This record gives sequence, C-alpha cells and structure tokens, in this order.
Amino acid sequence: MRVSPVIPVVTIPDNTDVIALGHALLNGGVRIIEVTLRTQAALAAIVELVKTFPEMRVGAGTVWTDEQARAVVDSGVAFVVSPGISMPVHEVCTAASVPLLPGAQTISEMAHWHSVGQEAVKFFPASASGGVAALKAYSSVLPALEFCPTGGINMSNVREYLDLPSVPCVGGSWVVPESALRDAAWASIEESAKKVTEL
Ligand code: 3PG
Repeated sequence: MRVSPVIPVVTIPDNTDVIALGHALLNGGVRIIEVTLRTQAALAAIVELVKTFPEMRVGAGTVWTDEQARAVVDSGVAFVVSPGISMPVHEVCTAASVPLLPGAQTISEMAHWHSVGQEAVKFFPASASGGVAALKAYSSVLPALEFCPTGGINMSNVREYLDLPSVPCVGGSWVVPESALRDAAWASIEESAKKVTEL
C-alpha cells in the first residue's frame, strides 16, 4: 500500500499488448498494478506481467473464489484483492502468505476483517458509500485499520482521500481506462501514470 499513492485497477480486454502496458506504467513511475479477473484475458495477462516485470508488484483483483485465488497465487501475484467478504480467498492467501486486500463497505465488514487479523481493507465502493466523510467516521472507531478506498475516485478527488492519515493509497480505473487499452493509447497511460507519481 506504500508502493504508489494509486493502485491502477485494470480490466484487460482481449488482444491487449500487456508488455506495452507494463512499460507505460513503469515509464510513468508506477510500479504496481491490480489486474481484475473480470475478463477472459486477465489470467494470461497476469502471468505475462509477472514474468516480464519483476520490478512491478502485480496483483489480482475481483477474486471471489478459492479456485480463482489458487490460480492467481500459482501465477506468482504479489497481492490479491477481493471486493467483499470471501473467507475461502482469505484462507488461500493466508496459507500461501500472499497479502490480501479484502473489500469492506460497512463498519461491521471492516470489524470482521480486523478481527481475523487484517491490517487494511479496500473500502468499496468508496464514493457511493459516503467517501471521505464515511472514512473519517470509520477511523474514529477502528483506528488500527488502514484503508485503500476505490470506486469513483479520480484526479479531481484523490487528494481528499490521500490527505486522510488512514489512507496510504487509493485504487482506481481512471489511470488505465479500458478504452485506452483498446486504442493502444500508451502515451496517454504513461501521462496518467506520471500524474499519479506526482501525487
Ligand atoms: C475496483 O474494483 O476497485 C473498482 O472497479 C474501481 O472503481 P472505479 O472504476 O470507479 O475506479
């Protein structure tokens, strides 16, 4: 969570040049990526990124099942993200000593993750669930927990989140939008990554 102020959340369409994507992010100074398991191309992209860019933290997101968790752990991911509570995913990650960033939207979900030893959660969907004001309230009762808010964050509101002491980083798809991948817009992805690095 301290590799970059923003973890790019990336959904990979078919036929994406993932090597060009990796170079665009690294050239922009971003050394972390979360590839969501929302498309057919995701797993192969993870394998290729892990193999090609050892200097990059490659994670898998939208991981719900133990089968998915095992597949991404076997692919060598540096971390796993799940959008909500999935104890099978937690078990696989714990057994493999792979860091899990599990999703929570409510105070009870956050307390649940804290009670099983998690030090940080993904607050999702952040903007739709009260944003910065909600996070301040959660931190006042769960001061030991750190948050990676995602959902509805972009360059115009990211600073408000990062200014919270409990938020080392946020996640967001705006850095690498699907349209930029379809258009092979590597220069524009590198530009977005540079803006993130400047944060
Ligand atoms: C996620 O999985 O973290 C979200 O899809 C990211 O939300 P965003 O598209 O609003 O950035």
